[in-house]
Amino acid sequence: MTDIATLPPLEIRGHTPSVGANADHPMRIMTRRAAGLQGGAWDKGAAETVRGVFDSLADEWHTRESPERLAVVNDALERGADPLIDPSAARSGVAAEIGSGLGTYSGAISARFGSTLAVELSEEMQRLAHPSAATRILADGSMLPVTDGSLLGVVLINCFLFPQEIDRVLAPGGVLLWVNSSGERTPIHLSTDDVLAALPFETTGTQSRAGVGTWCALKRLA
Ligand SMILES: C[S@@+](CC[C@H](N)C(=O)[O-])C[C@H]1O[C@@H](n2cnc3c(N)ncnc32)[C@H](O)[C@@H]1O
Repeated sequence: MTDIATLPPLEIRGHTPSVGANADHPMRIMTRRAAGLQGGAWDKGAAETVRGVFDSLADEWHTRESPERLAVVNDALERGADPLIDPSAARSGVAAEIGSGLGTYSGAISARFGSTLAVELSEEMQRLAHPSAATRILADGSMLPVTDGSLLGVVLINCFLFPQEIDRVLAPGGVLLWVNSSGERTPIHLSTDDVLAALPFETTGTQSRAGVGTWCALKRLA
């Protein structure tokens, strides 16, 4: 059974969308493909295309960092993930932040888990990433170098959802956090209903809005 409570929106003054993507945006189409919600799949060609896009954006990605965007992620962690995470398990557990980019949010994630793997596809993003407590690895989040059921958290902040891989790596009781910092205008956007439809396992959790951002936090039931 999937039971998702909607929490009241959080106002974040001055938060505006950093982009204005719609359903035709190439990254939106790729997002739906990767999640298995439309034809095509995430394959070698898709990974090459996406890597090229983010390698070329890496130099200017820091211009998208802002206190308001950080506030969206902190809200998702505080009101969404924290109430679902068993703190004693989290202290010794491992989380993966897939698509960690410049590592803007890695510190906040690392503060909640025993260790955090910051997984990035783009070598350029990885090269420019800020220092943080996370262990940085260059890898494709659709093929994580971890064993089955070994993760207590999977965090996706404006990155693709790979439902079969999350099914493989996320332990029962583990938490999946999905954040779109520009909400429906984020290129890599899925609604909570889309995320739930894509996942092959049952969850419980919460969703909300923070500024113009949206998020859902889902705890795997079995
Ligand atoms: C839209 S950016 C978001 C970066 C960061 N999370 C943020 O919100 O600032 C998406 C990031 O995910 C990375 N990415 C895309 N596909 C990936 C994959 N299959 N595995 C790991 N990282 C991926 C990109 O290289 C890029 O750095």
